[in-house]
Order: sequence, then C-alpha cells, then structure tokens
Amino acid sequence: MQAFLKGASTQSVKPQKDKSAGTSGEKKPRALPWVEKYRPKCVDEVAFQEEVVAVLKKSLEGADLPNLLFYGPPGTGKTSTILAAARQLYGPELYRQRVLELNASDERGIQVVREKVKNFAQLTVAGTRPDGKPCPPFKIVILDEADSMTGAAQAALRRTMEKESRTTRFCLICNYVSRIIEPLTSRCSKFRFKPLANQIQEERLLEICQKENLKYSKEAIDALVRVSEGDLRKAITYLQSAARLNSDKEITENSVIEIAGVVPPKLIENLLQICYKSTFEKLQIAVKNMIDEGYAATQILNQLHDVIIQETLSDKQKSVIAEKMAELDKCLADGADEYLQMMGLCSVIMQQAAQTD
Ligand SMILES: Nc1ncnc2c1ncn2[C@@H]1O[C@H](COP(=O)(O)OP(=O)(O)OP(=O)(O)O)[C@@H](O)[C@H]1O
Ligand SMILES: [Mg+2]
Repeated sequence: MQAFLKGASTQSVKPQKDKSAGTSGEKKPRALPWVEKYRPKCVDEVAFQEEVVAVLKKSLEGADLPNLLFYGPPGTGKTSTILAAARQLYGPELYRQRVLELNASDERGIQVVREKVKNFAQLTVAGTRPDGKPCPPFKIVILDEADSMTGAAQAALRRTMEKESRTTRFCLICNYVSRIIEPLTSRCSKFRFKPLANQIQEERLLEICQKENLKYSKEAIDALVRVSEGDLRKAITYLQSAARLNSDKEITENSVIEIAGVVPPKLIENLLQICYKSTFEKLQIAVKNMIDEGYAATQILNQLHDVIIQETLSDKQKSVIAEKMAELDKCLADGADEYLQMMGLCSVIMQQAAQTD
C-alpha cells in the first residue's frame, strides 16, 4: 500500500508536463480499472447523449452555460460528462480554483451549503487563464449524487444559485430527479441521460477489446450488452472481470453469464414448466436447489418477470402474477427469506396456470 502511495505521489507531477505520453497508455499503472481508463476525456467522447453534448460544446466555444441538472440511470455518463467539460473549459491548472466538486461522500448538510458552497460561489473570477487564453468568467459547483442531499440543504441552495448567477454555475447530478425539490429543478436546464443503446455499447466494448488485445466471441459481446441493460459501467466492469478470468483464452458467452450472475435461461424455463405441469413437492425441490446454487432471488425474479410477460397466459393471470412479483421485490429489498418468497411466487404461478386447464 505504501509503495502504491509513493508511486502515485511521484507520478502525480508528471502527467501535467507531458500529457501526450500519459494518453499513450504506457505509463499508466496496469491495475487501473477500465472504467476509469476509458472514462471520456473530452465531451466529444461521450456517446449517445447528444443534447447535453451540444449544449456543453456551445459553452466551450464561448457561449454562456445555464445551471444544469443531469439525471438518469447509473453508468450512463453523467459524472464523466461534466468532469470532461470542466477540464476542457479550464485546463488542468485552473481546474482546482474554478471547480468545486462535492459528492455523496462529502458532508453536504445545510451547514456546508451555507459556508463552503456559498463562500466558493461568492469569489469573483477573471475571464482569462494565466497563459492568456480566454476562459469562461464563471466557476462551476458540481453537486454529484444530489438526490441524497436533505431537503433543507437543497432549499439553502435556492437563493445562492440566484444571487451568485453572475459568477457561478451549478451542476446537479442525480439518479432520481423526483428527489430534487422543485424550486431547484426549475432553476436548471434538465438533461435526461438515456440508458445507452445496444449498438453504442457494442461499439465501445469492441473498442476496448481491441485496445486491450482481447480475444472474444461475438456472442460474448452480445451477452455483455444484454446483461448490462444500458449501463456501460457495468458492461465494462464485467468485460474486465471476464478478461481476467480467461487471461489468454477467448471470452465466451458462458463466462460472461457466469460473471454477471445470470441464471441460465434453461433453469428458468425448467422452473416454469414445473409450475405448469408438476407437483408442489417437485417445485419445492427445484426452488431449494436454485437458492442453494447461490442464485440471487432478485435475479431469478427479474428473469422470471421477463419470461412470464412473453408466456401464453391470459392478461388477468399475468396481472395477478405481476402483482405478486411487485410485492416480492419489496419484501426481498426489506431482507425477507429468499426461499419462502420464491415459493410464494411460484405457488401463485402454479395456481394461475392451473386455471387455464
Ligand atoms: N455516454 C457514455 N459515453 C462514454 N462512456 C461512458 C458513457 N456512459 C458511461 N460510460 C463509461 O462508464 C463509466 C461510468 O460513467 P459515469 O461515472 O459517468 O456514470 P454516471 O452516469 O455518473 O453513473 P452514476 O449515476 O452511477 O454516478 C465511465 O468511466 C465510462 O467508461
Ligand atoms: Mg456519477
């Protein structure tokens, strides 16, 4: 650990001097997670979020920047986008003076908003960099994971945002926009970050495969895209795990499925067939086996849900099952017993299926 820290501190001076060498990939420590290694360095590299990229590019060309609110599911590029934009706006030297970055790991109660944020916002700034190049005459306060801020702390921002609008722009980032109080959302331009399209994810993953010299099958990439459901961070993390696991072998669909903890579709199908045709005792054994194998009940539930929707049951039967699934989801989140919950659901499926005959 100490060696690592030493290494980090000696290196920290270098990248600023010769940035081009840093991007070639040779000087980077090998252990860097790929999500960080392939984090977009400029806004142009952010894929699939065209609207926000267009607005940020305008402000890079000198136009004013509105207060921003980014929201959307995890791993879609929210944090990366604003960090890349801020770097491009200010360059490495000014970045520290001009950008205040606070996330959920920092104390962000009302006191901090009153003191730290307010004091930072009140500072005035020049419109040029030390090297003479123009830069925007404002600072940026990034409040990442803002949905975890208390209502009072959010309320304390309201007036600050307005009063300091001459010198400061705010960028709020969250997953759940409904947890941001309305007065704040109405002060910001809202941008929804969409889950990344399959095509885009595939392109990114292939790019990484190429750069890392990985051997892979087409099905493995398809599986990665499928299991990550628009979350590119998840896809990249799984890819890295799979690459570690098969260091010089080809990455296969099966290894991806195993890493992602997906229940093999055959098992799900088998479980459904038992619900439809077999006895309660067999069902008990099947569910117990699945839980003993270590498959997470929430994962089984999600996959069952996708399959049930496609089944040839009547709408009424599907709705009864879906309602039970919703109940189950809440119970599992609250820490209920996985076996009992799964049995509860399978019994309902069994009951409903019996009504067709
Ligand atoms: N639109 C995108 N374009 C390029 N890379 C992306 C994109 N979205 C995600 N990534 C990749 O995923 C990683 C995580 O992205 P980021 O941290 O920006 O997600 P986030 O939206 O802030 O998620 P969270 O809500 O969990 O904080 C990045 O390092 C990058 O490699
Ligand atoms: Mg983030």
